[in-house]
Amino acid sequence: MNQLPGHPHFAWHGDALHAEQVRLDALAQQYGTPLFVYSKASMLEALAAYQRGFAGRKVKICYAMKANSSLGVLQVFARAGCGFDIVSGGELERVLTAGAQPQDIIFSGVGKTRAEMQRALAVGIGCFNVESEAELEVLSAVASAAGKTAAVSIRVNPNVDPKTHPYISTGLKGNKFGVAHERTLATYQRAAALPGLKVVGIDCHIGSQITDTAPYLDAMDRILDLVEAIEGAGIALQHIDFGGGLGINYNGDQPPAADALWAQLFAKLDARGFGDRQFMIEPGRSLVGNAGACLTEVLYLKPGEQKNFCIIDAAMNDLPRPAMYQAYHAIVPLQRKDSAAETYDVVGPVCESGDWIGRDRALGVQAGDRLAVLSAGAYCMSMASNYNTRGRAAEVLVDGAQAHLIRERETAADQMRGEKLLPQ
Ligand code: LLP
Repeated sequence: MNQLPGHPHFAWHGDALHAEQVRLDALAQQYGTPLFVYSKASMLEALAAYQRGFAGRKVKICYAMKANSSLGVLQVFARAGCGFDIVSGGELERVLTAGAQPQDIIFSGVGKTRAEMQRALAVGIGCFNVESEAELEVLSAVASAAGKTAAVSIRVNPNVDPKTHPYISTGLKGNKFGVAHERTLATYQRAAALPGLKVVGIDCHIGSQITDTAPYLDAMDRILDLVEAIEGAGIALQHIDFGGGLGINYNGDQPPAADALWAQLFAKLDARGFGDRQFMIEPGRSLVGNAGACLTEVLYLKPGEQKNFCIIDAAMNDLPRPAMYQAYHAIVPLQRKDSAAETYDVVGPVCESGDWIGRDRALGVQAGDRLAVLSAGAYCMSMASNYNTRGRAAEVLVDGAQAHLIRERETAADQMRGEKLLPQ
């Protein structure tokens, strides 16, 4: 057995890549490609790293379902006792369908509509993470009209640089997220005075794919300063929500382990007298990212003067991260063999030069070979589109020796459903 670095439960047995006990080539044969495959054991192991760090503490883990919102994936986390962080009415319906308890749901996002607020209040979600003073006024009006009380936490922008890609850093002054640090106390005072609202917490989120410890420690200090100021003004906070989770290993990245990071954060919390407070976190990527791979087939090799291209059947509509963030995803063969490697740009069939999946990769491949694009469990299927009228891929969840089809491949008819032809 030969373990893939950073991908627990993905390993070569002999020359064949497996997820848990299932041979990936066999799944590609049975279900076709592109195909997303997830390992349930990997997800639960990633969750366990957080749980170890929280032993003996009051912490609720709310899976940020934007990372992967497929029903089968949500079921794994719901059954493991997680809560959920949602950002739309669509996510609310999905997670309820997957069996989540409404009180375990928190609702984040800068642009909640009145209809989304009404539905979330009607089902009885746990908390709204409010992102602006204007949203607070609207939520107060919507809740009062419905005769309900909305539990609110205000998302504070701690103005900490997470040193990640600019598109996925969210806690800096120039970002659209959260209430500015210096407006926080005034916003809490307004929230406490408005009808239909009950202040229950504070939250922040500094960014995603963070691999340094320092930004978390800085953000925690700044949040605790605010908690002291808010409580000093007579507004009690039941919980502190520390936002999203850690980065993952895409290309030799070395994020701290969840339990190690939280040992450091709790040392700070204990020192400042907050150690027994109720905490929440909203990890997404670190729970699912390296639990998933996208299987794909090589369609054509196209040698060129400047570049050799390896054209595969997965594309930017399936794996949007390289095109959007110049992100790196490792690419490995499903079946290892001793052929001489050439350097290729691995690209999809979509009619855009931005449709690349990997650049300058050494691969010994022929047309018809199958590859796995790794670290594809987070922000791939949930960001997939139908561009070029490509149906979204099928998904399989592996559990030991069993493989469950959790999403059928989307057909052209599925894509056209709801469209209307013009009259003759
Ligand atoms: N909570 C909030 C309020 C968030 O905005 C996010 C992610 C999370 C939690 C989860 O963060 P995580 O644990 O996954 O780092 N599409 C991008 C990532 C966007 C993240 C947006 N917010 C990517 O593919 O890299």
